[in-house]
Amino acid sequence: MSKAVPSSVPALVTGASSGLGAEFARRLATRGHDVTIVARRVDRLEQLAGEIRSRHRVDVAVLAADLETRKGRAAVASLLRTQSPWILVNNAGYGTRGSLANLDPARERAEVQVNVVALHELTTAVLPGLVRAGTGGVMNLSSSSAFQPIPYMATYSATKAFVLHFTEALAEEVRGTGVHVLAVCPGPVRTEFDTIAGTQDYMRITRPMTMDVERCVTIALRAFDRGAAVSIPGVMNFALAQGPRLAPRALTRRTIGTFFGQRR
Ligand SMILES: NC(=O)c1ccc[n+]([C@@H]2O[C@H](COP(=O)([O-])OP(=O)(O)OC[C@H]3O[C@@H](n4cnc5c(N)ncnc54)[C@H](OP(=O)(O)O)[C@@H]3O)[C@@H](O)[C@H]2O)c1
Repeated sequence: MSKAVPSSVPALVTGASSGLGAEFARRLATRGHDVTIVARRVDRLEQLAGEIRSRHRVDVAVLAADLETRKGRAAVASLLRTQSPWILVNNAGYGTRGSLANLDPARERAEVQVNVVALHELTTAVLPGLVRAGTGGVMNLSSSSAFQPIPYMATYSATKAFVLHFTEALAEEVRGTGVHVLAVCPGPVRTEFDTIAGTQDYMRITRPMTMDVERCVTIALRAFDRGAAVSIPGVMNFALAQGPRLAPRALTRRTIGTFFGQRR
């Protein structure tokens, strides 16, 4: 059993202006961690900072950064290097939907910058200090999309597969050091994600697996506390993530391609 990260360790949450990130920030503050919240929409961050300050005796810092850009990533990485340890929640991310041939290449590239490059850079910035301190941790937001390729969400599912494999490998590297590294793989969660990805029409079908941010974050934090490497919140999501391991790959990608390709 891994030792819990003390409340004296500050937390930094990316993508805290909405959805899961905002909830991670609230819950870490409830546990007594000072929090730095990062995103592009500063008005939303300021609102969340006010809410947290009014409820908890913790410091809240707002950092505006666009993680698509080198400059934005460097600003966050440099803050992470100024002190140690941290709890880093690499949560910022988004999806795109459609046939890759028809999608905007710049937006697909930006998706990789946010979902993969930023997460990789921030993790590598923070990790040496965590290992030296023997505490702190990283929670990386992957997805149930990581367990199989998803035609018509090819970039998104591939970015989340990267996050899962990268994080799981790191969790093994730091095992026994006191550092917690967790890949969180939610199924559908009620946030702004579907509006941005253009996947609202799936919500009717995915309703049985869909959860609230509160429940998803509760499950993720429990997994983080016990030193788990991977968390797939929800029994149905867990079961669905196991299917592709057993089925032939061609069957998996064709079935999923049919499901995702027919709609819209
Ligand atoms: N909701 C789901 O069903 C679901 C399922 C599995 C995994 N996830 C993952 O969970 C994470 C959080 O998503 P969510 O569901 O909470 O979605 P959301 O409500 O849309 O929140 C996404 C967050 O990412 C931030 N973000 C996006 N682009 C950014 C950029 N260029 N620079 C900095 N921040 C950026 C947004 O902030 P700004 O726009 O203010 O910058 C926002 O705070 C994502 O990694 C997502 O892939 C979500």
